[in-house]
Amino acid sequence: MIDFTDRVAVVTGAGRGLGRLYALDLARRGAAVVVNDLGGSMRGDGADSAVADEVVDEITKAGGTAIASYDSVDSPAGGQAIVESAVRAFGRLDAVISNAGIFGSVPFEDLSPEDWTRMLRVHLDGGFYLSQPAYRVMRNNGGGRFVFISSSAGIFGQPMEAHYAAAKAGLVGLTNVIAIEGEPHGIFANSVMPTGFSRIVNETVGDEKFLAESGFMGAIRPELVVPLVTFLASSACTFTHRNYSASAGRYARVFVGLTEGWLADADTEPTAEDIEAHLEQMSCTDRFFVPTSIVDEVLEVCERRGIDAMPANAEIRFPESQTDRS
Ligand SMILES: NC(=O)c1ccc[n+]([C@@H]2O[C@H](COP(=O)([O-])OP(=O)(O)OC[C@H]3O[C@@H](n4cnc5c(N)ncnc54)[C@H](O)[C@@H]3O)[C@@H](O)[C@H]2O)c1
Repeated sequence: MIDFTDRVAVVTGAGRGLGRLYALDLARRGAAVVVNDLGGSMRGDGADSAVADEVVDEITKAGGTAIASYDSVDSPAGGQAIVESAVRAFGRLDAVISNAGIFGSVPFEDLSPEDWTRMLRVHLDGGFYLSQPAYRVMRNNGGGRFVFISSSAGIFGQPMEAHYAAAKAGLVGLTNVIAIEGEPHGIFANSVMPTGFSRIVNETVGDEKFLAESGFMGAIRPELVVPLVTFLASSACTFTHRNYSASAGRYARVFVGLTEGWLADADTEPTAEDIEAHLEQMSCTDRFFVPTSIVDEVLEVCERRGIDAMPANAEIRFPESQTDRS
């Protein structure tokens, strides 16, 4: 059994929907869980502390350990407070499921700057505000696991969701870099594109007949997302820097690949007409690789060009972290 005894987990947006199920499963497996939820509406209005309290009650009545946190992830102080509540109550932090989210559908032409900002603040800024203090604690602990809840809307696109998709795609970028910088410290970061029936689906689809009769709606039981998220949040997960989709019991890796493309002759200046002429070769996905960082792309191009990535004896120096880890 994948066990979380003596492990401490933060789940944001854990008062409802999929987040609640992640929190229940981690607690059932022995984790001490910070159940964070602001308790607002689907669009992000209002707040209600009872939403997190109810899940804490559910966990403690079942013999588990949990505390509530009502802070919003959408400010640096909120993210810090969520992490501090875990450390204050349980002394450490091993897993963070960054799941809190809001939703709303607006045609791109009508999307206001306020809609845009609110969406990015909760999902993308919230992911940062939560994960940075958590990262520092994990680094002191000797490691940890991040699971960022992204969305297929961000990776593949979804009409009426420019703001939501941009925020969710941004979380994959955040996952990538935390994974790269965190790996030497035992901190792994992966992301999940879930599909699960919740108020987001219910309120967005609206049509009761469709909701009742669609086979897909019946198949996307939110419980089916839980095993993937639990696994990625556990120490049994020994990889980092990956994205997985979970939908109706189908679990699949999602990746960004670089195709072999077209290598223009080094002695020529390619023109727009050359691009047009080579589009098929550039776009063909038969041969590709999945870079693990920007360095892999640089090395691949250098190898094919027969050039060096770095002058001999050169060294790239990255800034040292100034964070006090005493
Ligand atoms: N349900 C799906 O099919 C689906 C698909 C793709 C992605 N997601 C993502 O999964 C996550 C959970 O979605 P859900 O369907 O369970 O939705 P939900 O609305 O049922 O739950 C989201 C929870 O997040 C909380 N929350 C919102 N803003 C917050 C904030 N600023 N601080 C703290 N808590 C906040 C809400 O109060 C709510 O309880 C979201 O990030 C969502 O975007 C869901």
